[in-house]
Order: sequence, then structure tokens, then C-alpha cells
Amino acid sequence: MWWAALAQLRPTHENLLSREERVRVRSYVREDDRRRFVLGCTVLRQVAGGALGVDPTQVRIERRCDDCGRQHGRPSVVGAPWDVSLSHSGEHVVVAMSRTRIGVDVEQESSVLDVEALRDLILAPQERRQVRTSDHLGAAWVAKESALKATGEGLRASMDRVVVPPPGVDGVVRFLDAPSRRAWALVLAAPPGHRAALTALTPGPVDVVTRAWTP
Ligand SMILES: CC(C)(COP(=O)(O)OP(=O)(O)OC[C@H]1O[C@@H](n2cnc3c(N)ncnc32)[C@H](O)[C@@H]1OP(=O)(O)O)[C@@H](O)C(=O)NCCC(=O)NCCS
Ligand SMILES: [Zn+2]
Repeated sequence: MWWAALAQLRPTHENLLSREERVRVRSYVREDDRRRFVLGCTVLRQVAGGALGVDPTQVRIERRCDDCGRQHGRPSVVGAPWDVSLSHSGEHVVVAMSRTRIGVDVEQESSVLDVEALRDLILAPQERRQVRTSDHLGAAWVAKESALKATGEGLRASMDRVVVPPPGVDGVVRFLDAPSRRAWALVLAAPPGHRAALTALTPGPVDVVTRAWTP
């Protein structure tokens, strides 16, 4: 897993992007969204290129959306024997790569706090007693979003149908609509002011190796 910061972005990084990615770059209205997207593509391309032994520009990333067919869905690296997941928030981007299917999520604490009003939509009934504070709720949010990114459903699925470990704890994730699905969520060490979680679609505990990305 690699962490990168917007401050590491250079104008030349945009040259690594594919034609489709450049089209998306131009579609962003907000400068920060654009920069986060470019940095995410850059880190993913460099990390995947390193693992495959090819130039970052030669990495083929498929992002076909299940809903509309456009290239803005769950990413996968064509020809790679591993799965990838990516998340960006505030000044930071995280890219995860694994032999098992994974989802990763990072959120700025300030943006997670906004979800307090959605408490009942986020929590499954059995979680409501454990999750008391906004801090707990933020932890549940990133764990659930990482789980739903691992399955590929994203926020199309209801967070209250996913049961995650108690706040701050790693453990089994249960999908109330898919009881046979096995998953394990990890609390990740995130940059100051952020929260992050990773879910792997595997029954057992998982280890994570964390690296700071270097351009
Ligand atoms: C996946 C999702 C939860 C990410 O939300 P977010 O908090 O805004 O963004 P994050 O920074 O954590 O993650 C964004 C990354 O998730 C990945 N992603 C996109 N769709 C995904 C999916 N269905 N499953 C897993 N990962 C997905 C992409 O790598 C994306 O990065 P990019 O925008 O640089 O390409 C959200 O986009 C979603 O729910 N998507 C599915 C529903 C939807 O909108 N469908 C489109 C209908 S046309
Ligand atoms: Zn779509």
C-alpha cells in the first residue's frame, strides 16, 4: 500500500496518463479534484508498472462502470495477477495492491463528520450501541466504504447492510445480503486529520505493508 500527497504532484505527471484519463482530467471543475485524480493515476501507473516491469505509460487500466459503461468505475490492471484499489481525500492519495480482492478508503475527518446526520443509514441495527461518537461513526464509514469498494458495489449498496468490527478494531466484516461472503477489515494508520480502512475479501487476518510513494 502506498501513500502519496498532492505536494508530490509535478506537471510532468500528466504525461503518464492515457487518452481516456486526460479526457477525465479536463472534466473536473475543481482544481483539487483534478489534482487528486492525476496523482491517483500517476501512483497507480508507477506502482503497477514497477510490479509488471513495464513503463507506467504502458500500464492498461480498465475502469468500466457497471452502470453506464464509462471509464469511471472500479479499476483493474489488465494482465496483472493482483487487485488494486485507490482512494483520495484532502491532500492524500492511497493505492493498495493485493493478491486478494481489496477495497481501500481514506477520508478527511472534517468531511466524515458531515455524515453524522446519516447515522441511521450508515449503521446496521446491531452496531448502533457500539458506535457512539462522531469519531466512531467516521471509523465505521471508512470501514464500510472500503468493504463496498472491495465488492465493487460502492455506495450503490446500503452501508446499513454491512457490519464492520467495533471502532478502531480489525476483524471480520459481514454482508447481511450476502452471508457467505468472507471479508476482513483493517484500520489503517492515516495521515493527520484523516481516517482510512482497508477490506480484503478473505476470511482471515491480513497484513499490510505501508510505503510512502516516491515519484
Ligand atoms: C466507489 C465510490 C464509493 C468512491 O467514492 P469517493 O469516496 O468519492 O472516492 P474515493 O476517493 O474513496 O475513491 C475513488 C476511487 O474509487 C475507485 N472506484 C470507482 N468506482 C468504484 C467501485 N464501484 N468499486 C470500487 N472502487 C471504485 C476509483 O479508483 C476511484 O478513483 P478515480 O476517481 O481516481 O478513478 C463511489 O464512487 C461509488 O459509490 N461509486 C459507485 C456508484 C456510482 O456512482 N456509479 C456511477 C453510476 S454512472
Ligand atoms: Zn457510470
